[in-house]
Amino acid sequence: TAVFLLSFFQSPFWILSLPSEDIAKGLMKRTVCAKSIFELWGHGKSTDELYSSLKNYPLENMAPYLQSNLTYKIKVHAFNKTLTQEEKIQRIDSLEFLPFEGKVNLKKPDNIFWLLEDYGMDPNNIPEHPIDLYFGRWIANGQRDLIESYSVKKRHFIGNTSMDACLAFIMANHGRVKPNDVVFDPFIGTGGLLIASAHFGAYVFGTDIDYSTVHGLGKASRKNQKWRGPDENIRANLRQYGLEKHYLDAFVSDASRPIWRKGAQFDAIITDPPYGIREATRRTGSQKEMAKMTERGTENHISISSNYHLSDILFDLLKFAAEHLVIGGRLVYWLPIYKPEYTEEIIPRHPCLKLISNCEQTLSSHTSRYLITMEKVKEFEDEDHDVHILESQYLPYKSHNSFRDKYFSGVTKRIAKEEKDSQK
Ligand SMILES: C[S@@+](CC[C@H](N)C(=O)[O-])C[C@H]1O[C@@H](n2cnc3c(N)ncnc32)[C@H](O)[C@@H]1O
Repeated sequence: TAVFLLSFFQSPFWILSLPSEDIAKGLMKRTVCAKSIFELWGHGKSTDELYSSLKNYPLENMAPYLQSNLTYKIKVHAFNKTLTQEEKIQRIDSLEFLPFEGKVNLKKPDNIFWLLEDYGMDPNNIPEHPIDLYFGRWIANGQRDLIESYSVKKRHFIGNTSMDACLAFIMANHGRVKPNDVVFDPFIGTGGLLIASAHFGAYVFGTDIDYSTVHGLGKASRKNQKWRGPDENIRANLRQYGLEKHYLDAFVSDASRPIWRKGAQFDAIITDPPYGIREATRRTGSQKEMAKMTERGTENHISISSNYHLSDILFDLLKFAAEHLVIGGRLVYWLPIYKPEYTEEIIPRHPCLKLISNCEQTLSSHTSRYLITMEKVKEFEDEDHDVHILESQYLPYKSHNSFRDKYFSGVTKRIAKEEKDSQK
């Protein structure tokens, strides 16, 4: 089946080649990036081109949907232009040559057909005629409604770094989370990432070094609210969405000192590690360090001391995933990038993990974060404990503070420029 869907790259339309309609429907049951998918019947750069392409579409492919006992309706959508009702009707009338045999039914048609017109991405430069036209049979809509229904704005328990609902769903999709999976987030925070996995039927749990976050205590992150309420916690979030039975638990624990026995296995590890950009990076200290820090020791019920260096966070995370994922299980996490230094080589690797994808989310002119997806392809063996050779890949992150300084230099320069521009 040739199909296309609405998505946002250089054009909001994308032509795909998929093996079957069922696969197209399966895709749309999961995606929060695409609006709709259609079976493409015709495509052209002008109306004439579209019509001749439609006339060439095999009749036997159209016939099952055009029979006399089936009702239909045609809808018109223009991207980057508003069409009047009159213009829409005119376009529908011009498609009269299609061999429809059934009756029109606007309320509950058996089949819906769409004429889609693309007027480009620039709202300040809308061409008179569309640059691309498509006609097709509607198959399914995507899950974009989830972005609204799971919005952080309406969520019971949130923190300063709660993951945006759309990104959390994208991460769960990259993690290929499916019903009855066990999904783990070693830096769980308010559990924002796990909600999406629970929505897809997984059992979720995590750890966080911060006692207050895990227990839903302390200062509230919402404006006009000083302290967190008695029922502001991860469990209450899952309850809010009817997903409480998918919540296993969250433990107060330091990700640099995993608490799992050898043999504990997860289907996916989905996480947003602390990079010291919006939150402090820290880990429990050594006994020596702890002795030095006695008065801070009780503050969080565990002694938190040394900075957890970025290179160590990444090193530990990959090693942990290599050891505790099932074969075929996925690690999905965000990697902060200082753009001028980015090359694919700086993405940390591990012999047990294959890099599946690295997708950029631009944050400023100098900084981005990459959504990294890796899949476990090899059993973790004793020699994998010793992955020193690969440490070279962690070099850009080795000097934690200098990375942060660079990262912030971009952000501060941008803010300074914005402030300057606004004063002009
Ligand atoms: C970016 S936030 C995660 C936010 C989370 N995705 C959410 O939606 O709320 C990173 C979390 O890592 C925690 N953290 C920092 N150092 C840690 C460590 N060594 N072990 C475990 N958690 C740690 C922080 O307390 C913070 O909650």
